[in-house]
Amino acid sequence: MHSSIHYKIGFIGGGNMSTALITGLKNQNFDPQRIQVVDPDESKRTFLSNRLGVNVTADLNEIIQNDVIVFAVKPQQLKSVALALAPLLKQQLMISIAAGVRLLDLSRWLNHYPKIIRAMPNTPAQIQLGITGLYAMPLVSKIEIETATEILGAVGSTLWVEEEAELDAITAISGSGPAYVFYLIEALQDAAISLGLTEEQAQQLSIATFKGASQLAEVSSSSIQTLRAQVTSKGGTTEQGLLSLETSKVKQAIILAAQQAEKRAKILGDELGKI
Ligand SMILES: NC(=O)c1ccc[n+]([C@@H]2O[C@H](COP(=O)([O-])OP(=O)(O)OC[C@H]3O[C@@H](n4cnc5c(N)ncnc54)[C@H](OP(=O)(O)O)[C@@H]3O)[C@@H](O)[C@H]2O)c1
Repeated sequence: MHSSIHYKIGFIGGGNMSTALITGLKNQNFDPQRIQVVDPDESKRTFLSNRLGVNVTADLNEIIQNDVIVFAVKPQQLKSVALALAPLLKQQLMISIAAGVRLLDLSRWLNHYPKIIRAMPNTPAQIQLGITGLYAMPLVSKIEIETATEILGAVGSTLWVEEEAELDAITAISGSGPAYVFYLIEALQDAAISLGLTEEQAQQLSIATFKGASQLAEVSSSSIQTLRAQVTSKGGTTEQGLLSLETSKVKQAIILAAQQAEKRAKILGDELGKI
């Protein structure tokens, strides 16, 4: 993305995710003067204005002067914001990053507005290493899809899906996924300590191992299975470790965890639609 982009973006909610997105956009040379944020909290507005150089306001009505409007409030706050905004909308592209809220519900709150994209980013967006699942309503144009790809692409990679229900699976995998990975890092740290290493050594070793292995997986032309086989020599230490993981059914436990998370995403979607 280059500074030649002319559309203006309005963020409703100036919290963690908006801050991450604006930081990413600025890093991509998006002019912060083309960004406006509405948030009721004065300290957040001051921070965003001073630190990131964006325009800020406490008045939701002002946000409609933008070409793209991003809903970045908590899911439970979305309905009241949408109801207030509904009579003011023109032809803007709406993007919701609120976890769990279905477009059928959001569109209804927006007076059956037909041009909405739902995005599911994850927390590594804070360091521009996120991955965002995206789904667009049928009337969203190709150019608008490109625009959303640019905006969410400013904080990492993007993955479009054809069915909105797939976002529940994405929520369970990449949305909740960072927590699973932190859990595994913690486990490896605890393991290191149990083997007599210090806390500091344990942390350094486990984080570097996750980082190195995932970067190797990303750049290597070999499959994950091949990479795993390459460190698993017959009769060696890794083989013993992996055998123990298999006996403990760790892989099955992770699959079940994601299935449970997806189930929960569906229930939350139902509940959020009813509020
Ligand atoms: N953080 C993540 O990694 C992540 C990942 C995926 C999806 N999401 C989604 O992103 C959304 C934002 O998350 P977040 O972590 O950035 O939340 P957050 O830090 O709580 O930010 C939301 C902001 O919106 C403000 N707000 C509340 N009502 C408003 C209104 N009527 N008009 C304008 N602003 C209003 C809030 O103010 P108050 O604090 O005063 O209420 C807060 O500053 C959520 O829906 C979440 O599901 C986040």
